[in-house]
Amino acid sequence: MLDLAVSLKQEYQAGGNSPLLKGKVLGMVFQKPSLRTRVSFDMAMRHLGGDALYLSPSEIGLGKREAIADVARVLSGYVHGIMARVFEHDHVMQLAQWSSIPVINGLSDYNHPCQGMADALTIKENFGNLRGLNITFIGDGNNVAVSLMHICVTLGANFTIASPEGYDINPIAIEKARQIASAFNGKSPSLNFLRDPHKAVRDAHVIYTDTWTSMGQEEETKIREKVFPPYQVNAELVGEARQDVIVMHCLPAHRGQEITDEVADGSHSVLFPQAHNRLHAQKAILVRLLSVN
Ligand code: CP
Ligand code: NVA
Repeated sequence: MLDLAVSLKQEYQAGGNSPLLKGKVLGMVFQKPSLRTRVSFDMAMRHLGGDALYLSPSEIGLGKREAIADVARVLSGYVHGIMARVFEHDHVMQLAQWSSIPVINGLSDYNHPCQGMADALTIKENFGNLRGLNITFIGDGNNVAVSLMHICVTLGANFTIASPEGYDINPIAIEKARQIASAFNGKSPSLNFLRDPHKAVRDAHVIYTDTWTSMGQEEETKIREKVFPPYQVNAELVGEARQDVIVMHCLPAHRGQEITDEVADGSHSVLFPQAHNRLHAQKAILVRLLSVN
C-alpha cells in the first residue's frame, strides 16, 4: 500500500489521478472533531473520481440514537465504504462486523492506523526505507504511539518510547508488536520501553510526539499537565539525537506543551509534509479497499 501511495502521489503531482473510484462514495462517520482525517479522506475520494459524505456526531448518534449494528447494515446499502472515528475501539470493530462493505478506522482510543501509514510514507521519503532506522516516540503511550509502533516493526524499524509511569502503551498492543517483530523477515526490529526521554532519543533518526491529553481524556488535562513537562520535545532534546533526525507530530500540536515552536517550525521538522501525506496514504487505502467492490 505504501508503494501505491508513492505512485498515486507522483501521479497526482504530475497533473491528477485517474478516476479509479468513479461512482464510489465513502461514508465518513465522526464521533470526534477532525481536520486532517476528514479533509484528506474527502479530497482523496474527489481526486480519485468518487465522493464522500460527512456524518457528524449529532446526526448519527452511533450506539445512542441507533444501535451500531443497525447503522452498519443501513449504511452498507447506501455507500461503498465507511471511515469511522470513534471513542471506543470496539465500536469501529462492531461496524466492521456488521457491515458488508469495507470499514476504515479513522482513529479510536486504541490506535490510528491511517496516521501510521502517512507516517511511514513520510519516513520513507526522508530515509528511503524504514528498515534498521531508530524511531523514538516521546510522551503518552496513546493511539498514535500504538500505530507507529506497529508500522515500525512491520517494516523493520526499531521502536523506542519514553513515557512516564502510568502512561505506558497498552500491553495487548505491545504483545502484538513483539509478535510482528519476531516474525520479521530479516534482523528482528527492537522494541524499547523507557522512562528517560534523553536516553530514548540517543541515535534516533525520528523523534515523534503527540498531545499529552487525547480526545476523550479532557477531564485528566490538569493532572497530565503536571506529569508530562519533562517529555517536551524541545531544541535541547532534539540536539541529543542524530544530526539528520526528523521531528514528527500527527497534529494538532499544543505548542509550548509537547513541542516547542522552535522545534515545530525548525529545520528538523517535517510536520506539514507529514500532514500532507495523509492525503496520499489515504488514497492508497481507499484504492486498495474500494476499487475491488
Ligand atoms: N492527525 C489527525 O488525525 O488529525 P485530525 O484529528 O485533525 O484528523
Ligand atoms: N492522540 C490524539 C491524536 C489526534 C489526531 C487524540 O486521540 O486526540
